[in-house]
Parts: sequence; structure tokens; C-alpha cells
Amino acid sequence: MTDRARLSLGDAQYEFPVLEGSEGERAIDIRDLRAKTGHITLDPGYGNTGSCESAITYIDGEQGILRYRGIPIEQFAAEPNFVEVAWLLIFGALPSGDEYTSFAADLTRHANLDEGMKHHFEGFPRAAPPMAILSAMINALSCFYPELFELEDPERFRGAAARLISKIRTIAAYAYRHSRGQPYIYPNPRLKYVPNFLHMLFSEPYDDCACDESVIRALNLVLILHADHEQNCSTSTVRMVGSSGANLFASCAAGVCALWGPLHGGANVEVLDMLERIHNGHLTPEAYVKLAKDKDTKVRLMGFGHRVYKNFDPRAKLLGEVAEELLARLGVDDPLLDIARRLEEIALSDPYFIERKLYPNVDFYSGVILRAIGIPTNMFTVIFAIGRLPGWIAHWREQRAGGSRIARPRQIYTGSTRADYVPMAERG
Ligand code: SDX
Repeated sequence: MTDRARLSLGDAQYEFPVLEGSEGERAIDIRDLRAKTGHITLDPGYGNTGSCESAITYIDGEQGILRYRGIPIEQFAAEPNFVEVAWLLIFGALPSGDEYTSFAADLTRHANLDEGMKHHFEGFPRAAPPMAILSAMINALSCFYPELFELEDPERFRGAAARLISKIRTIAAYAYRHSRGQPYIYPNPRLKYVPNFLHMLFSEPYDDCACDESVIRALNLVLILHADHEQNCSTSTVRMVGSSGANLFASCAAGVCALWGPLHGGANVEVLDMLERIHNGHLTPEAYVKLAKDKDTKVRLMGFGHRVYKNFDPRAKLLGEVAEELLARLGVDDPLLDIARRLEEIALSDPYFIERKLYPNVDFYSGVILRAIGIPTNMFTVIFAIGRLPGWIAHWREQRAGGSRIARPRQIYTGSTRADYVPMAERG
């Protein structure tokens, strides 16, 4: 704790402690503001409000820095291994060889779904949004493992984390297969995390998919780059729900619902729709950017802008490189990538975007990569959820370990003052 913040209200003077984080971020600690002053603060969208102290992920929005447990995300790009990063985020350090081997074995062991869960998929219309299925099935999953409602025991927590991280792939793959009327493909215990997911998505009962190493590498990195992002909307939702004592599955299912929104994880779908509209000749990139600058159109340049990054989102830079490399390796000439590059070029030289510090975010290039892999647009946000799950689990665990109080914000009431009930017969 360093110096103190002073607040004057009328003739009264108040002081509040100033906290400083390990990277020099400073916060005025107002946890006893109302008790001392009778006032609350108001901060719609929480742009100026810290909900917690956390040691998992550090973002410097001005510098475009993103670190997982202190490690810059760029350092995971050389040999991307999503399972290793999941362990790092949840347990706080890179896994030893034995820890990694044991965790990977857990993920392999827990890849299957209870056969009873398959009937749930049949109950969904084929056109059901995969994010609706994902949130429902994560909650349904908990019904098959009631022993995992209580996770005070570290081994039991690890078992729940492994089951969720492993089975989210199977749920996603089965939702995809159901939407196409294809048979479910059981996980293959001889395959690692990402190849097994691709196997469940794209193999046939009579023909295993042969996934290119560059695709496996690219998808590992895509999942890593989505793995955590401090107190974003969906992670804050997981913490909020978990603060009531709700179990890990219910908290993560709530995170899926928050991520679904087009301003959050659903933006990767909106980006593809935007690129396709431009490609189909409806609009030129220049015309679209013009619409995005006009408030009256309600159009936004999807995949651009960020509440925290006022510089390049470091994930967008890496994903832009992955997109170029993967499409070249696969021999895919996707005009949508050229359109994305053109939109970026126009926006980055346009005063509207420069003045507002709007840069490409994580969603701007991810869809081009997933499309090249053969993943349909309506599954993009599901992929985001698979990546983000370890981050949600890490934050849920950190909050539960910290003995948090239930999250319960206050409000400023602006409705009717004292009124009385009027019997129906006396109403106009
Ligand atoms: C994710 O929080 C996280 O960390 C999220 C995430 C994660 O990893 O969890 O990083 C993932 O959600 C990335 C963001 C994906 N969403 C989009 O790409 C949707 C398009 N972007 C915007 O809607 C917007 O930039 C947000 C939602 C991302 C941020 O919204 P803010 O911080 O509330 O910013 P704002 O809406 O107040 O905008 C500030 C100004 C406004 O103009 P003025 O009123 O000041 O004139 O910038 C404009 C906005 O109109 N603006 C845009 C714009 N984004 C902001 N104008 C055109 N196109 C855009 N994309």
C-alpha cells in the first residue's frame, strides 16, 4: 500500500488507501466508502472499477502486453501446447514433466461422455445454436458427477477441471456432428488434446481424418491465445456466479452464455459475416468502414476496438501471422483474408479509428484461421469457449481460494418515489 486518496464531500474530508499491483497498477480501495460517506460510486460497464485482485493474467492495454502468470503470450508461439498453458493458468506455474504427463493422461481418460448424455443432443433441433447446446450440456455434465459439486479437496478440483477441459471438446464435436446429421465419433485415446478434437469433428466411422501438423499447431495456438484475458465479461460472469457458491460447472456454463454476445466472444462470427458481406459484393471495404464510422448506422467494424487495449491486441498480431502461414501451408487462397488486411489498412490510417485508439482485436483474424481448418462459422465462438475454459476455471479457483464475498453491486435508484397500490376497480 502506498499513499492515500483524499475525498471531500461538503465540509467532510475522507481518506482511502491506494493499493499498488505487482506491475505498478494503482487502485483506490473504496471497500468502506459507503460505510464512511453514505455514498456509492457509479461506473456503468465497470470501465474504472476493479472487482478483485488477481495473479493469473496481466494486460497492459496502452503497451499491448498480455502475459499468462508473467509469461508473454508471444513465447507460447514457438511450440504451442494448449494443455501446458491450461495447467499454467489454473495451477500457477508451468507443469513439470510428471505433472504434464499425468494431466494429459487425465484429459485422455475423461474425454468420453456418459452415454446418457447423447440423448440430450438428440433433443436439440439440428439448427440449434452450438453455444446454447454447450452451456446446457456443461450444466448437464454436472448431473453425472454430483461428487464434483464440492471441490474443496485439491484432487477432486483437479478431477473436475480435467473432466471439463476434456469433455468440452467432445460436447462441441457432438454438437457439430448432430447439426450435420453425422454419427458421433468417439474420442481416440491414442491422440493428444487437439488432434483428438479434430478427430471427433472430422473423422468418419470408416475413415480417420488425417490432420495436417500445421493445423494442429495453429489450433493449439488459437486456443492458447483465447485462454485467459483477466476480468473480461465472461470471466467476470464466472466469478460473479461462483461468488454465490455455485459449483464450477454452473459457473462455467454462465461464462459460455456471456461469451456468446456479439460484442464479446460472438464477435468472431460477426467478423466473418462482415467479411463475407463485403466479399459477396454488397459493400467495398471502404464503404463498410464509412458505415462503421457513422453512428446512425449502428454498424461497427467487428473485430476492432477493445475496452482495455488502446494499442494493438498482441493476440491479433499473432493470429494475423498464423492466418498467413496456415493458408499458405494449406494452399488456401481465401479472399476474406485479403479483405481483412484491406480493412485493417484503411482503419489504421483513418483518424476516426486512430483518435479512438481502435485496433484489431483477438476476433479479427481468428475466423479466417478456423474457416481454413474447416470449422463452420457457427462453431467459432464454441472454439473461443474451449480456449477460454482454463481461464474461467483458474479464476473460479482463485476466487474460491480467496474466500470471496458474494458479488452484489449497488445502484442509484431513479424510479418512482413512494406510491400506493390502486385496486383494479379504481384504475382508469
Ligand atoms: C472480446 O474484455 C475483453 O478482454 C474481451 C476479449 C477477451 O479476450 O475476453 O478481448 C474478447 O470480446 C474482444 C472484443 C470483440 N468485440 C468486437 O470486436 C465488437 C466491436 N468492438 C466494439 O463493439 C467495442 O470496441 C468493444 C465492445 C470491444 C469495446 O467497447 P467499449 O470499450 O465500451 O467502447 P465504446 O463502445 O465505448 O466505444 C468507444 C468509441 C465510441 O465512439 P464515440 O461514442 O466515442 O464517438 O469507439 C467507437 C464507439 O462508437 N467504437 C467503434 C468500434 N468500437 C468502438 N466504432 C466502430 N467500430 C468499432 N468496432
